[in-house]
Amino acid sequence: MTTTLDRQDIQGLVTRGYSTLPRAGFLVFAITQPTAARAALGRLARRVTNGLSEPSDTAVNLAFTSDGLRRLGLETPELGGFPYEFVSGMTAPDRSRFLGDVGENAPRYWRWGGPATPPVHVLVMLYARDEQRLHRLEEETRQGALAGGALAETIRLGTAELTGHEPFGFRDGISQPLVEGLSKAEGLSKAAAAGAGGGGEGDQVVRAGEFVLGYPNEYGLLTDRPLLPSRYDPDGLLPRTPQGAADFGRNGSYLVFRQLRQDVEAFWGYLDAQTRRPDGSSDPAARDALAARMVGRWSGGAPLVHAPRQDDPALATDNDFGYFATDPDGLRCPLGAHIRRANPRDSLDPRPGSAESVSIGRRHRLLRRGRPYGPDGSGDGTGARGLHFIGLNANISRQFEFIQHTWLNDPDFNGLHDAPDPLVGPRQDNRSTFTEQGRPVRTRHLALPQFVTVRGGAYFFLPGLRALHWLCTAAPEGGQQ
Ligand code: HEM
Repeated sequence: MTTTLDRQDIQGLVTRGYSTLPRAGFLVFAITQPTAARAALGRLARRVTNGLSEPSDTAVNLAFTSDGLRRLGLETPELGGFPYEFVSGMTAPDRSRFLGDVGENAPRYWRWGGPATPPVHVLVMLYARDEQRLHRLEEETRQGALAGGALAETIRLGTAELTGHEPFGFRDGISQPLVEGLSKAEGLSKAAAAGAGGGGEGDQVVRAGEFVLGYPNEYGLLTDRPLLPSRYDPDGLLPRTPQGAADFGRNGSYLVFRQLRQDVEAFWGYLDAQTRRPDGSSDPAARDALAARMVGRWSGGAPLVHAPRQDDPALATDNDFGYFATDPDGLRCPLGAHIRRANPRDSLDPRPGSAESVSIGRRHRLLRRGRPYGPDGSGDGTGARGLHFIGLNANISRQFEFIQHTWLNDPDFNGLHDAPDPLVGPRQDNRSTFTEQGRPVRTRHLALPQFVTVRGGAYFFLPGLRALHWLCTAAPEGGQQ
């Protein structure tokens, strides 16, 4: 079965990461005057970039929290079609516990999106080919959005120039699910359909409904989405379901935004201390190898399952591998490595190595669209470095939250103990460990410090373009004033 995506109605960030637009800035707004805000956002909506073709100079995308949708006029009954975790928000106490946003990660310490910071309603994502263009785009957006006090700027989240490497120094953005219906996936989908198994490239093709609402997902079903009685849309701006409901969700996606501060010095300092020679001197090669084992790839990108001893530039973007046939015991890529947890490929129970195992994994994928920030202070205001982690999915609880809670943060993942994700996981007292499986003996690294801390975040909805237009021009008024 082939899926045709309505790219003209899908926001561009779903179809591409804008790697040709290396400068980006994210403006977060609170809606102060809903009626005027609708008009201002309506003007901005006309500039929103769709998913059809690669933009050459700039791109604009627009997303809303559930509070933002409420302010614009969608009241509780209409929000009923949105999932609980989106409506209650990332900082609801049960979500915080589930996500590991406790201790240092607790929302009360966040720079934005927390209980002690100004409201978060609208996220304006701006991308440009160079700094000058980005600056101009930001100024135009501010003038339009802030004119007349319709919206108040909650925070500006700057980014570092895109280099393809995240702040710890590793090549990032290599492994992405290939969305069925988008060109790159086409050639590979046949292999997937044939049940290639093994976790390799053909297995990375995922049904469009895992990322875009209104299309079949990995269960062969349409993911739940907000539908409205047709009377809300007398002019027929929104697509219709076969039953005649106005489809506000179609072509939309949920956008998970987390500002993750990376303590680069602590990371390399810990690795250095763990790998010193008996005479106390540094051993850079051993240090870099331990870092690679924590990630599952060398800093240049080569995966450890194919390059277990040293980095191999020829494998920098290699994504054609599984774990079960080559490395079931984690002797090449440790069982607790970041990429092995974030996407276990073919190692999931009950039958690791089987097509069934791979197909279970396909229900827990994310499109990652993050951007690094710092160290020039543009991101955190403190000179800190980190990642504006941005994940797109159609079901926040089954995709982002599951990966975060059940795979990354779980200290007992895959038969391990006291072993949360070595790179990004929160720590429990001084007990967190990282184990390199080995024969005849394994090597354990104890008392792992916390290298990544959450500094802000929210769940957003990235509507389709028609839904965006409807929201700003035709949605029933009467949001909270
Ligand atoms: C500051 C925090 C983080 C850093 C520095 C980081 C770094 C990396 C690196 C270096 C890779 C390998 C390159 C690639 O395949 O693109 C990777 C892969 C990945 N990360 Fe992260 N990551 C972070 C947070 C997260 C979070 C919070 C999640 C999900 C909740 C996540 C999910 C993934 C996934 C799904 C992959 C691809 C795995 C695969 O398919 O092989 N990461 N990350």
